[in-house]
Amino acid sequence: MDDLRDKYLGLIAAAGDEAVLEDLRVQAVGKKGEISLKMRELGKMSPEERQTAGPALNALKDEINSALSAKKVALEDAALDERLRGEWLDVTLPGRGRRMGTIHPISQVTEEVTAIFADMGFSVAEGPQIDTDWYNFDALNIPGHHPARAEMDTFYMHRAEGDNRPPHVLRTHTSPVQIRTMEKTGAPIRVIAPGRVYRADYDQTHTPMFHQVEGLAIDKDISMANLKWVLEEFVKAYFEVDDVELRFRASHFPFTEPSAEVDIRCSWEGGTLKVGEGDDWLEILGSGMVHPKVLQNAGVNPDEWQGFAFGMGIDRIAMLKYGIPDLRAFFDSDLRWLRHYGFAALDVPTLHAGLS
Ligand code: DAH
Repeated sequence: MDDLRDKYLGLIAAAGDEAVLEDLRVQAVGKKGEISLKMRELGKMSPEERQTAGPALNALKDEINSALSAKKVALEDAALDERLRGEWLDVTLPGRGRRMGTIHPISQVTEEVTAIFADMGFSVAEGPQIDTDWYNFDALNIPGHHPARAEMDTFYMHRAEGDNRPPHVLRTHTSPVQIRTMEKTGAPIRVIAPGRVYRADYDQTHTPMFHQVEGLAIDKDISMANLKWVLEEFVKAYFEVDDVELRFRASHFPFTEPSAEVDIRCSWEGGTLKVGEGDDWLEILGSGMVHPKVLQNAGVNPDEWQGFAFGMGIDRIAMLKYGIPDLRAFFDSDLRWLRHYGFAALDVPTLHAGLS
């Protein structure tokens, strides 16, 4: 029995994995194992022999069983340690960067403009990109014969013969959203309307689709002074400068009276634009007091209400702020260009956290 004990305790101690250990269990204490066979021999012994051999065999069996289970636990622990060592992970390492794509400068600038005007109490209005010529022209005091229609290089939607719905156009500006908003909500109003507009034109500064943002404020006592303040606040916030000088140049738009084009003081020293200083002027938008006929066309009583409007090219102010030389590149879908001029996907422009 001492030989059996030494043999099995030695083999168990040396077992390298659980499969070997299981073989040993079968060999020693399994049904046909050595110790079980010995126990069967107890029957052939004399009562005296049995009295000492029986308890001794049982004790040996217990000893081997507990050596087996102790070894099993030790092997499991070692296997776990081994796995933990292999799967070790330094959670303090920086993450692995993955390209998520970038925000297009037009989207970025639209968000910036929206954040600035939202801060001044303007909400965002929308209108259809395919609109009737009434909303795009007539309601804005641009009648059929008016030269502004020709100037705008309008895309007209095809009409089948006998179709007598009103003619539809791809909107040539965001100004029709003024009419739709006045019709929908009545006065007072404070909205901006950013969006796509279309004109049949193509060169370094013109693309057949581009973006504008319209502004409209209607109330009882709104004047050009309010327009001037709002635009100054906007330009300062947008170009992220403390001071700007605006120049209001008398102009003409059919839908405003009086009308003004607005320039900002700037310099182009060394080929880069600086806003707020210098001897140059940069035209950035058209504006004016909403024409009484336009209010009337949209169902707002011009004897009671008045207001200002403005229209600005989003692509243009994006090019100016971010130094983008060619308008056409905006719409080329060139990935290298987008990576260069694009913005981080998770940085949403806000006034408190920074626009750009
Ligand atoms: N709709 C004009 C354009 O596309 C821009 C504009 C000028 C809009 C004056 C206005 C405005 O609201 O008051 O050229």
